[in-house]
Amino acid sequence: METVWWKLTLALLMLAVSTLAKAPRSCHMEDFIQAVKQVEDEESGSGSEPAAVLRRLRRAAGLNDAFIQHFLPDAALSPDLDADLLGYVRTAVPHGLLGETQEQGVVLTPDGTTVALQPLLLGMEARLLSRTPGRPRGLYQLTLARDLGAALRPGSADAGRFGPDGCWDSLTSPRVFTLSGPASPFTTAQANGAMDGVVLGAEASGRPAGPLRLSSLLTQYYCRGLDARGLDGAPRLISRRRREIFRGMILPPALARQVWRATDLQERLAGRPRTQGGKKKQLMVVKEGLREFVHMFMDCPPIIPRCVWGAEPYRGTPTKLSLPLSFLFIHHTSTPSQPCLTLQQCSADMRSMQRFHQDDRGWDDIGYSFVAGSDGHIYEGRGWHWQGAHTLGHNAVGFGVSFIGDYNASLPTQHAMELVRERLASCAVGGGRLVSNFTLQGHRQVVNTACPGDALYREIQGWEHFGEVQK
Ligand SMILES: *[C@@H]1O[C@H](CO)[C@@H](O)[C@H](O)[C@H]1NC(C)=O
Ligand SMILES: *[C@@H]1O[C@H](CO)[C@@H](O)[C@H](O)[C@H]1NC(C)=O
Repeated sequence: METVWWKLTLALLMLAVSTLAKAPRSCHMEDFIQAVKQVEDEESGSGSEPAAVLRRLRRAAGLNDAFIQHFLPDAALSPDLDADLLGYVRTAVPHGLLGETQEQGVVLTPDGTTVALQPLLLGMEARLLSRTPGRPRGLYQLTLARDLGAALRPGSADAGRFGPDGCWDSLTSPRVFTLSGPASPFTTAQANGAMDGVVLGAEASGRPAGPLRLSSLLTQYYCRGLDARGLDGAPRLISRRRREIFRGMILPPALARQVWRATDLQERLAGRPRTQGGKKKQLMVVKEGLREFVHMFMDCPPIIPRCVWGAEPYRGTPTKLSLPLSFLFIHHTSTPSQPCLTLQQCSADMRSMQRFHQDDRGWDDIGYSFVAGSDGHIYEGRGWHWQGAHTLGHNAVGFGVSFIGDYNASLPTQHAMELVRERLASCAVGGGRLVSNFTLQGHRQVVNTACPGDALYREIQGWEHFGEVQK
């Protein structure tokens, strides 16, 4: 009798566990990594070689057109994954749009950015296979070049060539990703996925094949936390560094050649005659078009949109700035006094500052134009287009950028400072939002305040563009 009860209990327990395991997966990178683990476990008989796992995922996702087949082995064999997993991979991986503004085939990563899985997986597979002699190298074609080619085709610039970013319905259980404007042929999530495909492909192919598991590599890259030194003490291979690593890996002229090749290959595969006009002239056109890509994704820092940090709407009617502006004002938040190291922590800081500015100060919105966290991101405050409330009497002529933390006695992380000093500044100048000879000043130079703290104020005096007060 006892054993029967025992068996029954066990059976019920297993049922409960399997039901739990079948809880629908969301569009979070952690759920995707779980799915990869499941494929690896099923694959374990034949070894869970990353290239084999990637091929199975590609087969399940149905990514197998002529362009892909030109670089990667045929994956048209019948799918062999369990039905639930197959259903998940089929909806989670292929990139596309549903309606006008819902982007599919993208996942939310723990650092708050959104990544398209298709270029990520194709890039890694291409790079892993190119270790094998005689295989064509399709790394840049499969991650970037084909989609960039589409974005640069004449007439495709109406809605903007690149971007936009977007917002998730939920950060804990994300399912729907809505773009923040009309879709271009190359969204921010596609750019993130493509850069990650290039970065992770290089990493995977550089390691000894044996013990590497795709799921562990993805976990290391996307899910690793930061210690008190922020990105200064973090390993290089971490998703928050994707733009800087990518910038170190490819030069714009090389990218232009890859785009030209991809477009040419597309035409040939479609049986169309080769495009008219010399290669040189076409390359010029591509190079010209790529400038905007370089500006948006290689010069500009990653900016976390308001919807991701959970901003309340603007109150009242914002005043439009007349660009380009001439000043960049540097602040520290003072409260919160600690640097923030995760999306959750920085977002909570942003919300509490916005609450304070709106409710206690009676302002329309968070005062700053942008805020720098120590998690590797800039957070969007009032942004590039709307006048802030940061530097009394000077809000119409400059952007106000604040570092989260108190920097009277110590400095922000080197990485956070570089993000503002190099990336945000060149992003602003390159995008026509700041004049190229702009002046950088600390808040205390124009208003009677201790901001941005003694230590940070000493530091920025050595920065390019630092200027004395004009009387
Ligand atoms: C900032 O630090 C200085 C010492 O460098 C100290 O004298 C001053 O009181 C501090 N200011 C604030 C606002 O804490
Ligand atoms: C910046 O450049 C413009 C035109 O090139 C010039 O008129 C202006 O005086 C310069 N401003 C400063 C602060 O040097």
